[in-house]
Amino acid sequence: MDADITLTVDGRSRTLKVDTRTTLLDALRERLAVTSPKKGCDHGQCGSCTVLLDGRRHLTCLALAVAYDGAEIVTADGLAADRLDPVQEAFLEHDGFQCGYCTPGQVCSAVGVIDEAKQGHPSHVTDDLEGDVELSDDEIRERMSGNLCRCGAYAGILAAVRQVAGR
Ligand code: FES
Ligand code: FES
Repeated sequence: MDADITLTVDGRSRTLKVDTRTTLLDALRERLAVTSPKKGCDHGQCGSCTVLLDGRRHLTCLALAVAYDGAEIVTADGLAADRLDPVQEAFLEHDGFQCGYCTPGQVCSAVGVIDEAKQGHPSHVTDDLEGDVELSDDEIRERMSGNLCRCGAYAGILAAVRQVAGR
């Protein structure tokens, strides 16, 4: 069965007809040629398909596109539309990548993590619901733990997120 959906992707409204079994990741990559979200595991385990969906970081490989009709999606491409996002600049500065396959997902996740902390969203490390959550190194590691890096660039990723988080 097909359905018509409209997504705003990196600021551009896109309408498409999708099979209702199509994942958001496949809709982005194969139908809309938005390829910065990467297909790693395709099973919700690696984080390489992470985007910002209605302002929150979100895996796209387990999401059915039809369920997100009307959603606003920002990918790593969109974050770099006018100039690099501070998180992207920090990844460059701190060598937060090697092959780069995980990087778009890492960057989107890091942007989401910093925003979540500002809004006081709790994690397993901190259950503080009041105001800013300080992003300690353990807190950053915990919140970024859904994004795997096969190259092991974790030290640079941590340094980049730490810098943009303001410590
Ligand atoms: Fe989505 Fe791995 S491709 S979590
Ligand atoms: Fe290669 Fe992370 S930079 S997988």
